Amino acid sequence: MKEKVIFTEGFSNISIYILDVSTKVLIVSDNNVYKEYGHILEKELTNSMERIDKIILESGEKTKNFESIFKIFEKANSIGVDKNWAFIALGGGVIGDLCGFAASTYKRGVKLIHIPTTLLSQIDSSIGGKTGVNFGSLKNNVGTIYQSKLTCINIGCLKTLDKHQYIAAFGELAKYAIIYGGEVYESVFCKTKEILEYNYDTLQKIIGKCIHIKQDIVEKDLEDVGIRNILNLGHTLGHALESKSDYEVLHGEAILLGLLYACKVSKAIGCLREDLDYDIEKLIKFLNIRYPKSLIETDLIKYFKGDKKFIDEKIRFVLPYAIGDIRIKSVISQDVLISAINDLAREDYLWI
Ligand SMILES: NC(=O)c1ccc[n+]([C@@H]2O[C@H](COP(=O)([O-])OP(=O)(O)OC[C@H]3O[C@@H](n4cnc5c(N)ncnc54)[C@H](O)[C@@H]3O)[C@@H](O)[C@H]2O)c1
Repeated sequence: MKEKVIFTEGFSNISIYILDVSTKVLIVSDNNVYKEYGHILEKELTNSMERIDKIILESGEKTKNFESIFKIFEKANSIGVDKNWAFIALGGGVIGDLCGFAASTYKRGVKLIHIPTTLLSQIDSSIGGKTGVNFGSLKNNVGTIYQSKLTCINIGCLKTLDKHQYIAAFGELAKYAIIYGGEVYESVFCKTKEILEYNYDTLQKIIGKCIHIKQDIVEKDLEDVGIRNILNLGHTLGHALESKSDYEVLHGEAILLGLLYACKVSKAIGCLREDLDYDIEKLIKFLNIRYPKSLIETDLIKYFKGDKKFIDEKIRFVLPYAIGDIRIKSVISQDVLISAINDLAREDYLWI
């Protein structure tokens, strides 16, 4: 089933939609986002809601752990949350994944509402129901699939987002561009400047399109056992980089390099039919993204084994063959994987 998604102007009128889901809400947010939008949202909800409470966590990927989940559970216990309540995830993908995990497990499931506040969470993480925490130095090692009752997209929020975080979303944007092609490819690779300049119409179109692409794929394979795997394009190397860098490299930045890596692997085994790698290179240069050189060593391969797509001692690698033609390949030799890492290491423009 597709989640209900609405675009809102600011936070006014948001209570009408939230009321449809529940009259009792626990807002889960982080310190940065709450400072910008927490009071505005609470003020908007005050008159219509029966109960409102909040829990504010530290911002950042390192918060995506069980300690935070327990804090949410403790808060929920202390205020007597029951199954009629909704948890509202007010924040980026970290808060969305944490709050979603807590909502899916507390009382065996309370209602979930996403109010994503980063570009990455608006185009991707607030849709499709994946929740999770990092555990044992592995990214998203534990999680559930639990769809929200409502996702509210407020594009205006993006203006207060740090530029570095905003730009990182190009990792997931480029993923959708390669999966879908057409106008999405055109927007991400040719109208990059318009997105960087917060052109409202361009943003609304691209966010709406990415949501549709994801919802269509998720509807066919909610449990992620088939076609949904293509949404992991770029994520094998991406997750390895995030884990190895102890989350210093942002998720979206890691995915962007992961896409380039997937192209190189695909090229090495003779599958890539278009020069997608050149387009990604151009984009990375245009966005001026650089990565710590110390990360790019062949030991990254050992992180691949922690990937959810590592099954029966084989990595199921998501490879681009061409724009709009993405396939899963389970037999790729270690030599090819290592040689593609060495290829990346030789690209001086990538490294600091
Ligand atoms: N569940 C999924 O399907 C899925 C998909 C993609 C990514 N993810 C996850 O999403 C996470 C990354 O999410 P992210 O890129 O949104 O990062 P994030 O949640 O860490 O947010 C980035 C930073 O921006 C701040 N922030 C957020 N919105 C703001 C705003 N409007 N104004 C000012 N500051 C703001 C946050 O406090 C944080 O410091 C990763 O953990 C990744 O694994 C999940």
